[in-house]
Amino acid sequence: MNKKIAIKGGNPLNGEINISGAKNAAVAIIPAALLVDGVCRLENIPNIVDVMVQLDIVRGMGADVKFLTPTIVEIDSRNLDRSDPPFELMRKLRASYYLMGALLSRYHDVEVAMPGGCNFGGVRPIDLHIKGFEALGAETAVKEGGFVCVKAENGLHGKTIFLDVVSVGATMNIMLAATLAEGQTVIENAAKEPHIVDLANFLNAMGANVMGAGTDVIKITGVEKLHGGTYSIIPDQIEAGTYMAAVAATGGSLLIKNIIPKHLECISTKLVEMGCEVTYTDDTVRVTRTGEIHRTNIKTMPYPGFPTDMQPQMAIPLCLAQGASVITEGVWDSRFRYVDELRKMGAEIHVDGKVAVFNGVDRLMGAPVTAYDLRAGAAMIIAGLAAVGDTTISDTRHIERGYDDIVGKLRSVGAIIEYVEVPGEAE
Ligand code: UD1
Repeated sequence: MNKKIAIKGGNPLNGEINISGAKNAAVAIIPAALLVDGVCRLENIPNIVDVMVQLDIVRGMGADVKFLTPTIVEIDSRNLDRSDPPFELMRKLRASYYLMGALLSRYHDVEVAMPGGCNFGGVRPIDLHIKGFEALGAETAVKEGGFVCVKAENGLHGKTIFLDVVSVGATMNIMLAATLAEGQTVIENAAKEPHIVDLANFLNAMGANVMGAGTDVIKITGVEKLHGGTYSIIPDQIEAGTYMAAVAATGGSLLIKNIIPKHLECISTKLVEMGCEVTYTDDTVRVTRTGEIHRTNIKTMPYPGFPTDMQPQMAIPLCLAQGASVITEGVWDSRFRYVDELRKMGAEIHVDGKVAVFNGVDRLMGAPVTAYDLRAGAAMIIAGLAAVGDTTISDTRHIERGYDDIVGKLRSVGAIIEYVEVPGEAE
């Protein structure tokens, strides 16, 4: 049986949605728990496949992983019995690369499979991660079968590392490796995304010494060990942004709860330009659209710029805007594979490399489409909700990697959306 998402479009969204914990923070903090000499209690854990795989990886290495409630997990890695994470699970997600930094910090020796995950930007290199580990004193070797071996025979020693490309993954991985290293590590031109600050806050709550996260210079002074404790993961910026983009596309009014307003500024600015009303309280945002959608331009940039992970979702209201809008992808080499699917629904889009021009049309029409990656999948859902008629989305496994109960949450605000089993079709 193959599972698809079926949507009957055309309903405005109205009501309240609660945002879950941040995927990109959780997938880094779970490996970080391997540095802790004690029990780590993590709250606000999202129920998504990437997080469950990351937990399976640490469980597979001998960590004791216990759910106390559906959103609270305890990790005790004091009895870890191996330094090499299970290869077959490593290949399932991109963020498994954080195991490299964490295990290098703990054992000074790790062998991992090259990470898997979304492949929207062509090659997704990890050269900056490796460069960082080597600056701290490790030697790396790529082995047959796609394995990377990282070893620091004489331990890890603090250094100043300049990242010539702003990289979220390299910043966090170097932070992990440096946590138990000797002396001070300085990361210059560091990424500033909310999940970087969250990882630093987690490490500091467990006894690490990380300063400057959220700016482009992060200083990590190595400590001998981390102690156990409790930490609550931040709300997911991209999940919140996805529902904000959805209401811009469908019309209606959504109260989105458990958010950090600062993280959503760049997204709300664009929604206001499109003609939405956006109002905040301390931990909620309400997005309302009643009139027409205005055209606008978007360029994705590292934080605090507009997030690349919101680019496909924002494309849907722009497909329906009055006039032409331009999206420029400023992070990945290409991230417009999803436009072919939108053309099947009647969208008018022209792509040239990193630039896409959206000529607004009066309506999208339901069609069978494919979710090529996580955020493209979310965009297909938004397109289906805004379209006239029926849409079915295949390859939903990409969506489940990063959205906690997206079908249930949308149903609760008036969407006609459900999972359907399609017999006899191979995925
Ligand atoms: C993370 C996010 C991903 C998001 C991206 C950018 C996770 C698990 N994933 O991915 O959803 O789209 O940030 O916000 O948090 N680069 C190099 N060499 C490297 C690493 C990266 O050249 O060693 C380049 C990449 O090709 C890309 C840019 O740096 O052009 C940004 O990548 P990076 O920030 O590292 O993305 P990820 O951490 O993989």
